[in-house]
Amino acid sequence: MAPPLFDWFVPCPRGLEAPLAAELAEIGARHLGGAAFKAGAHVPGGVHFRGGWAAGMAANLHSRIASRVLLKIAHGPYRNENDIYELAYQQQWEQWFTPNQTMRVDITAIKSPLRSLEFATLRVKDAVCDRLRELSGSRPSIDTAQPDVRVFAFLTINECTLYLDTSGEPLFKRGWRLDKGAAPLRENLAAGILRLTGWTPGTPLYDPMCGSGTFLAEAAQVALDIAPGVERRFGFEKLKQYDVNAWQKLKVAAVDAKRAARASRADLQIFGSDISGDMLEKARANLDRAGLPDLSLKQLDARNMVPPADAPGILVANPPYGERIEVRGRGPRGELRDTGRGRREDDDDAFTRAQPDPADAEFFVSFGNALKQRFPGWRAYVLTSDRKLPGLMRLRESTKTPLFNGALECRLFRFDLVAGSVRNRPTSE
Ligand SMILES: C[S@@+](CC[C@H](N)C(=O)[O-])C[C@H]1O[C@@H](n2cnc3c(N)ncnc32)[C@H](O)[C@@H]1O
Repeated sequence: MAPPLFDWFVPCPRGLEAPLAAELAEIGARHLGGAAFKAGAHVPGGVHFRGGWAAGMAANLHSRIASRVLLKIAHGPYRNENDIYELAYQQQWEQWFTPNQTMRVDITAIKSPLRSLEFATLRVKDAVCDRLRELSGSRPSIDTAQPDVRVFAFLTINECTLYLDTSGEPLFKRGWRLDKGAAPLRENLAAGILRLTGWTPGTPLYDPMCGSGTFLAEAAQVALDIAPGVERRFGFEKLKQYDVNAWQKLKVAAVDAKRAARASRADLQIFGSDISGDMLEKARANLDRAGLPDLSLKQLDARNMVPPADAPGILVANPPYGERIEVRGRGPRGELRDTGRGRREDDDDAFTRAQPDPADAEFFVSFGNALKQRFPGWRAYVLTSDRKLPGLMRLRESTKTPLFNGALECRLFRFDLVAGSVRNRPTSE
């Protein structure tokens, strides 16, 4: 008998939907021997697909870009919280978990007319608990920090979809990062950016502001074929039913591949530098915990960078921005123009409207010069929330891709540093 098929939704950082769909198709071809993922619609922030348990589990284990993998339980129209309660109450939650397990409910909504999403969340929780109590005499308790089971509800203007989470902790938590810097990039955003750059193993890759080493670790794991989830557990392992045999096969293959990678002596051509010795220590510790060989890491001001390889390659960086993390190795900080609105960490508008700090501006001019003068033939990709960065670097971007780093709207700027014909930008821009 053919294994049952389900509908799944895979959320990801906004802007990475197409790379995620391509990645899922590759996972099917490489790890499940064919078209295990029947691709569905892309929507802002995720991708739908249809497939069996093996596909859902392989997405958890192998997707670098997914934030979670959600199993669709129900879908229906609603006008008020009672309709949502009824929809949730009718589902056979008892098939999936027991009242002895803890749970948590989350709601995401787009254009929902409901006044309080908290109240709607409470109604879903009540419905699940009421159903289990009526069937078994006891109800699950709520644990918002480390629940055994997570239920997600997604509301549009008049439709509600209920999902059971199969990931547990979000998938960007690979299980190896202990040492973070002040502003580490989420692993799944870094992995998606690497895919957008078109980098393939063997091509030199250089991050001159590598911080805790997120781009480097993701790239090295791709090069060595280490599954991003091989070190961690998943939410589905706590459910009453999943395909245990298929999971054993997937997991054993991933553990074997990681063992083979540890023994590899391949020259990965992946390089990092940072002005901060502390950050490089963190990067080294993270790379080690991720099961990766030593990579070339140097303490260096990015203004003094030189190509780390003979052949041209891909440079990728997310430079310091705003108050969250400062450019270092430059003069005293100037005054920021007051936007009159106060500033928050994620207040992109306030940041982009503020005049660049003169010392930061000097850093970006020098960084742009270093690219133009010393990196002919390279392609550079810079992720920033500052839309004026190309102007500051006096370079004209070839493409700019909108991406979200959490709630922060960013651009991934691409600069083609063609030998002898760098497209300079007038300084006044
Ligand atoms: C936003 S963080 C990068 C985070 C990194 N992608 C990660 O995942 O951890 C910016 C990094 O730039 C470094 N930095 C600041 N000024 C620098 C300079 N002048 N030259 C090189 N690196 C610098 C900081 O030490 C910090 O690690």
